Amino acid sequence: MSRLIVVSNRVNPPSGKGEESVGGLAMALAAALREYSGIWFGWSGKTTPEFTGQLNMQRVEGVTVATVDLEEGDYQEYYNGYANKTLWPLFHYRVDLTAYDRSFGEGYDRVNKRFAETLRPLIEPDDIIWVHDYHLIPMARELRRLGVTNRIGFFLHIPWPAHQLVVTLPRHRPLVEALFHYDVVGFQTEESLQAFEGYVFNEVGGEKTEDGRLRAFGQITEAGAFPIGIDADDFARITKSPRAMRVYDRMAAHSVFRKMVVGVDRLDYSKGLEERLLGFERFLHDHEDARREVMLLQIAPLSRDEVEAYQDIRSRLDGLIGRINGAYAEMDFTPIRYLNRSYRRDELAGVYRAAKAALVTPLRDGMNLVAKEYVASQNSEDPGVLILSRFAGAARQMKEALIINPNSPEEISDALAQALAMDETERKRRWEDLMDNVTRQDVTAWRDDFVAALKGDPTVMAANTETPDEPAVTT
Ligand code: ADP
Ligand code: G6P
Repeated sequence: MSRLIVVSNRVNPPSGKGEESVGGLAMALAAALREYSGIWFGWSGKTTPEFTGQLNMQRVEGVTVATVDLEEGDYQEYYNGYANKTLWPLFHYRVDLTAYDRSFGEGYDRVNKRFAETLRPLIEPDDIIWVHDYHLIPMARELRRLGVTNRIGFFLHIPWPAHQLVVTLPRHRPLVEALFHYDVVGFQTEESLQAFEGYVFNEVGGEKTEDGRLRAFGQITEAGAFPIGIDADDFARITKSPRAMRVYDRMAAHSVFRKMVVGVDRLDYSKGLEERLLGFERFLHDHEDARREVMLLQIAPLSRDEVEAYQDIRSRLDGLIGRINGAYAEMDFTPIRYLNRSYRRDELAGVYRAAKAALVTPLRDGMNLVAKEYVASQNSEDPGVLILSRFAGAARQMKEALIINPNSPEEISDALAQALAMDETERKRRWEDLMDNVTRQDVTAWRDDFVAALKGDPTVMAANTETPDEPAVTT
């Protein structure tokens, strides 16, 4: 079996204590590497005054984890800069938050080159290399420059935006051209794939080859949709773990949690947290009888907090939550409990299971794994209801959720009322369908499909199409 080398900015090997860091990518890659004795390469999370290229190697549960420190300036221009002030907002349709500084692009290219040079000596001829996410689009180009001829694939965990957004980047052509150095380029959804193809056909005159691959910039790559999933079996297992049960029992015993609605997200403006709170406020306004009964538990660990847009959303949320609690709290009841911290996965599973409904309301999201984790944590006896934004990639698969437009407080409020009043038969029917999807399209299926495509299996790309109809909108 060839070795798999996974490359990502964020590297988070499982600690064995259930304390892996927050974010869909780290969660999925830890699960994806579990059956490979591969290498996981990326940033150590630390900075040094000057770049040394020194590799830190450790062996964690059969995986070789190789990390490198970043120079402070690189961290600012590449991570805080091009990755999180340019590509992240733009790819989530927030042109208003996008910074176009030239120095950020230079830092981005420099770090990709440095990462490629550091990784190069670890690569053996039969290895297959799988690069992840928007931080590392130029990795294959840099590896090819160093003479690497191995199969290299790329997976984008976030949305690929519409053509008109991509061209707002001053150097959009080299960015897209860099993707043509990969053998396979994967997106979360058909929608992202089509947006990418739209750019390639209309902006640079690219075309489809006879075998369905994409030709542009004098190169050929295979682009496809590979919707990511969770480790459903592992989630089902931890949901029954003693710690998850303890959290669940504590909540079930306490009347405050009887009608709990849960939200779990990194504190990010793409997650629609303000819109969610406005929807919840509307619900409290419209449903007087629910005011002393329904509680929203919002868990939102801080993320990228050196970036101004993240500081802004944090203070807006603080204000909004204060206002809603100020208006609707009673001496002995607070409608919103808000926690800026992370939890162990088994604790989260217990919280998910105790919640009657989950609010997953991103304004844009590549996939959204929280939606899948919530479903996987439910008990078939008394499952909760998933309320899901139509703008999450997950909405393409999870059609039995209550699909809402997060921009509408009324839709959120109506969906909450519908969820909390839903009878057991309907809840079970919807959950079974959702669970079937979460189990079938899990992280192992995602990894195996991508790796098979990267190894050149022609059947995979053809099989990987989703049902074409629009997600149903609840009214
Ligand atoms: P993103 O990758 O944009 O953060 P996802 O929903 O795809 O969004 O993935 C988020 C991941 O981070 C999930 O696996 C979720 O369980 C985890 N997570 C989010 N909030 C917390 C938290 N407070 N504690 C622990 N894990 C969290
Ligand atoms: C999303 C991105 C990942 C990123 C994660 C956490 O899932 O797609 O690439 O790792 O958020 O963000 P952070 O900036 O902390 O790595």
